[in-house]
Amino acid sequence: MTATTPRRVALIGTGRIGTHHATTIHREVPGLDLVLLADPADGVAQRLADDLGVPAATADPMAAATSSDVDAVVITTPARTHVDLVSAALDAGKHVFCEKPLALTLEDNDRVTKQATEAGLVLQVGFNRRYDPGFAAARKAIEAGQIGDVQLMRSVTRDPGPFKADPTKVPAWTIFYETLIHDFDLLNFFNPGATATSVYARVDALVAPEFRDAGFLDTALVSIRYDNGALATAEANFSALYGYDVRGEAFGNKGMVTAGDARLTSMTAFLADGVAAATGRSDTELMHSSYLGEFLAFADAACDPSSPYPTGLDNRRSLEIALACIRSVEEGRPVELSEVAS
Ligand SMILES: NC(=O)c1ccc[n+]([C@@H]2O[C@H](COP(=O)([O-])OP(=O)(O)OC[C@H]3O[C@@H](n4cnc5c(N)ncnc54)[C@H](O)[C@@H]3O)[C@@H](O)[C@H]2O)c1
Repeated sequence: MTATTPRRVALIGTGRIGTHHATTIHREVPGLDLVLLADPADGVAQRLADDLGVPAATADPMAAATSSDVDAVVITTPARTHVDLVSAALDAGKHVFCEKPLALTLEDNDRVTKQATEAGLVLQVGFNRRYDPGFAAARKAIEAGQIGDVQLMRSVTRDPGPFKADPTKVPAWTIFYETLIHDFDLLNFFNPGATATSVYARVDALVAPEFRDAGFLDTALVSIRYDNGALATAEANFSALYGYDVRGEAFGNKGMVTAGDARLTSMTAFLADGVAAATGRSDTELMHSSYLGEFLAFADAACDPSSPYPTGLDNRRSLEIALACIRSVEEGRPVELSEVAS
């Protein structure tokens, strides 16, 4: 196999983001050849395979994770199913791309990370914001010292509204494990070399307050302290009526960088009734270039595992913050990361 031979890929979990990723890989990533789709839901994988022209589909996720017909596996299933599929795929010698969060416990996180390292296989986590041109440029400027010492950071995620999911089906602590984990990774990305040391989280159900007592949470504000002195906030809400909105900022003693824009393009219309701009109604619309970027990176890494990508260690660093947030909410106090990170 030469470095230019596309890697044969199976994608497992053809739900909302899996459908987008499968389409992106199939149409826009020459280094990956999507040959197999899998989803346990009746006929779902086969329908997408038919739509895209992918040659095979199965309802058996484990068979796809270990198939001898593929070199790499993309896992886009619900968070709680990730580690078993990741572990099986690594055992079978596959490079793995796994949506965030890689795992929900540090033990699971470390186990699969070690497994990948020992096998010399890629284990890339879906922290796509790193591949957005604006966020990537901000990180470059920070690394180049343009803003000096990082003192303050901010990361915002507002999912597009109106909120339509059934709150009773949203797993506990999703706001930290699955939403803000992006922001924790971004803050870590904007503060290279530093480590988060303590966290204070406030959280509520303001979008769907009638489900608060059932444990549903849709709005959060987290403050984080880093060992280089930087202070950061991360915030999330599940229902921004103007569309998907992700933004980040880092402020230092020499300047500031900001990235992310709710506007779909830089076009602004100045009309008789005012000034307006179109916004993205979904993550896949606003952040497509970042999703494409992460799969181009996965294709590169599957040929040359020394190329950079977000790893299991990056997931651990964000997961530690998420776990500290949960402890902070449960106990109503700031929590040191050393209390949750073993
Ligand atoms: N990076 C991002 O911006 C981003 C965006 C959305 C979702 N995600 C992540 O992607 C994952 C999937 O999210 P989604 O919104 O597409 O969910 P979804 O519910 O729309 O899709 C999940 C799919 O997985 C299938 N599935 C369920 N159990 C399975 C199992 N045990 N094995 C294999 N497949 C199984 C379901 O049938 C469904 O088709 C989550 O981890 C989520 O956090 C990431």
